[in-house]
Amino acid sequence: MSRPVALITGPTSGLGEGFARRYALDGYDLVLVARDQDRLTRLAAELRDEAGADVEVIRADLAQAADRAAVAERLRAGVQVLVNNAGFGTAGEFWSADYAVLQSQLDVNVTAVMQLTHAALPPMLAAGTGTVLNVASVAGLLPGRGSTYSASKAWVVSFSEGLANGLGGTGVGVHALCPGFVRTEFHARAGIDMAGTASFLWLEVDDVVRDTMADIAKHKIVIIPGLQYKALTTGGRMIPRNVVRALTRVVGRGRDRT
Ligand SMILES: NC(=O)c1ccc[n+]([C@@H]2O[C@H](COP(=O)([O-])OP(=O)(O)OC[C@H]3O[C@@H](n4cnc5c(N)ncnc54)[C@H](OP(=O)(O)O)[C@@H]3O)[C@@H](O)[C@H]2O)c1
Repeated sequence: MSRPVALITGPTSGLGEGFARRYALDGYDLVLVARDQDRLTRLAAELRDEAGADVEVIRADLAQAADRAAVAERLRAGVQVLVNNAGFGTAGEFWSADYAVLQSQLDVNVTAVMQLTHAALPPMLAAGTGTVLNVASVAGLLPGRGSTYSASKAWVVSFSEGLANGLGGTGVGVHALCPGFVRTEFHARAGIDMAGTASFLWLEVDDVVRDTMADIAKHKIVIIPGLQYKALTTGGRMIPRNVVRALTRVVGRGRDRT
């Protein structure tokens, strides 16, 4: 019997790498999508050796329309799982940030999620089964923290929840993963100084991946790993929005990040 296939964007580090390893161990073949060819090749070789997975590699910059189209073409041929994980944040203020970088953030964090999901769903619906996991963020659930990055993640949450309702009863599930701070390359790449962040706020990749897979099995739509972030987001829903906004300004250092 052929193995199911999971296509994962951004598997060259952090959460995406964690999901690639987990799906390979769970018996999936993989399609790995990112820009760093060397890291893609190394990971593919490792997963073939360690988990016996068949691994395709697509080198793609998801900020580029032609590259997104190539990945969408692969998805139209059918996969069982799509993990829209690639994404990035940036330090600095919105008004002084390089506009080209902000546009590419929107293209990777939002346009790629929409385009790849749109390509993946028809074969999943025809098969009556499939999973789309969209990596959003706690930043998409709490108001007042940064600008374009948080807005892009709020889009991902809203998109996933709406789609999940629309897909009810089809056998295809859509999930929005909303992690808090995770130890990955994310903050160093963004140039965001995380010194002084309380240690209880940090999550590990393996824990996030394990909790996410468990919640997908329970058909949860919005997945928030970690008790501390479950408490934070529940509290955030119960107190008035203007109070949450004021708190994120003080506690969350709402400036110097997009
Ligand atoms: N770490 C956190 O605290 C945190 C919290 C909440 C949400 N998230 C979200 O989690 C997801 C994964 O981030 P991470 O924390 O694992 O960060 P990471 O370690 O920096 O990994 C980001 C991944 O995205 C890929 N990527 C970035 N830009 C890309 C582009 N233009 N085209 C294709 N691939 C691209 C990178 O691959 P290449 O460089 O090889 O292209 C890399 O594999 C992101 O969507 C992020 O917003 C992270």
